[in-house]
Amino acid sequence: MSAPNKDFDPVAAEALSEESVAAAVVAAEEAFASANDLDELKAARLDHAGDRSPLALANREIGALPPSAKAEAGKRVGQARQQVKQSLAARQAILEIARDERVLAEESVDVTKPFDRDPIGGRHPLSTIQERMADIFVAMGYDVVDGPEVESEWHNFDALNLGPDHPARSMQDTFFVESADSGMVLRTHTSPVQIRTMLRQPPPIYMIAPGRVFRADELDATHTPVFSQIEGLAVDRGITMAHLKGTLDHFASALFGEGIVTRLRPSYFPFTEPSAELDLQCFVCRGESIGRSDPSCRTCGSEGWIEWGGCGMVNPRVLAACGIDSAEYRGFAFGMGLERTLMFRHGITDMRDMVEGDVRFTKPFGLEV
Ligand code: PHE
Repeated sequence: MSAPNKDFDPVAAEALSEESVAAAVVAAEEAFASANDLDELKAARLDHAGDRSPLALANREIGALPPSAKAEAGKRVGQARQQVKQSLAARQAILEIARDERVLAEESVDVTKPFDRDPIGGRHPLSTIQERMADIFVAMGYDVVDGPEVESEWHNFDALNLGPDHPARSMQDTFFVESADSGMVLRTHTSPVQIRTMLRQPPPIYMIAPGRVFRADELDATHTPVFSQIEGLAVDRGITMAHLKGTLDHFASALFGEGIVTRLRPSYFPFTEPSAELDLQCFVCRGESIGRSDPSCRTCGSEGWIEWGGCGMVNPRVLAACGIDSAEYRGFAFGMGLERTLMFRHGITDMRDMVEGDVRFTKPFGLEV
């Protein structure tokens, strides 16, 4: 054991000099001030306030001093360590506040954000309008009927009074199913569903048949080889063209707005007699733009009417083909294209948008139930 070093001169103990102690305090405070976060401050604390820091080492030297010098050196080092401790605590408090603010900002949850906006696609407007149309007829007591898309020529043509030489049967319009003599086609309209229904059940018949139809057209802005129609048929005692007109007017106003009516123009279809082209009163200008170019109506081209489909009284030959006595029963029928209806109803200018299946097209229509 060594005896106290009575000859020790505190001035010679470099670490305990006023300058050294002051410099250690300055170095510590600078290190704390330049610590940018709690990790850096921790490192600075170990360097300047830890067991091996200059002031801790200086503190240890005090023990070796003569009693006369201990008090002063002890006070100096003690004050210095106190000051460093306070600076450290002050910086620690500032950096903790900064850390808390950052964590709050980074981990904050915006409870006002929508929670259910996962992309879930969109209903195709064709499906929506088809259901909307069907609802209108179901409310009038009509059945919604389905039929096959691959159809026999007999149902698609012959039974509908489209004889073997009718141009609609030619390769131009019809997709024939192989082999050439299979007698099968992709249905060119929804009218064969009328035939199937009349064959299946006796009158009274009130039915609609929405569905896909096929014609050999190139896909462009106004044509598509696959499109959709909705067909309507009523067969009952005493059916007249007035019933047809009233039904179509109700359909038009339910779909396009109160007071919108239809117009029939004489025409020809093999399966109806008499036959008519079906026009819809323009639901935008309601006819007010007729003949005017300024302001003109973009929806009807200032015609006041929009071509919508075909209709007529069911040809007695068609009733006969289905075994229905045309002396007892009469019927009316109508049909229109769904894509076309959607196009003028929503101002869609390119038919291809409806077949490409891009959700950016379908989504803006929403669900529209
Ligand atoms: N089937 C006809 C077509 O596709 C439309 C129509 C249906 C016309 C019913 C009259 C009666 O062009």
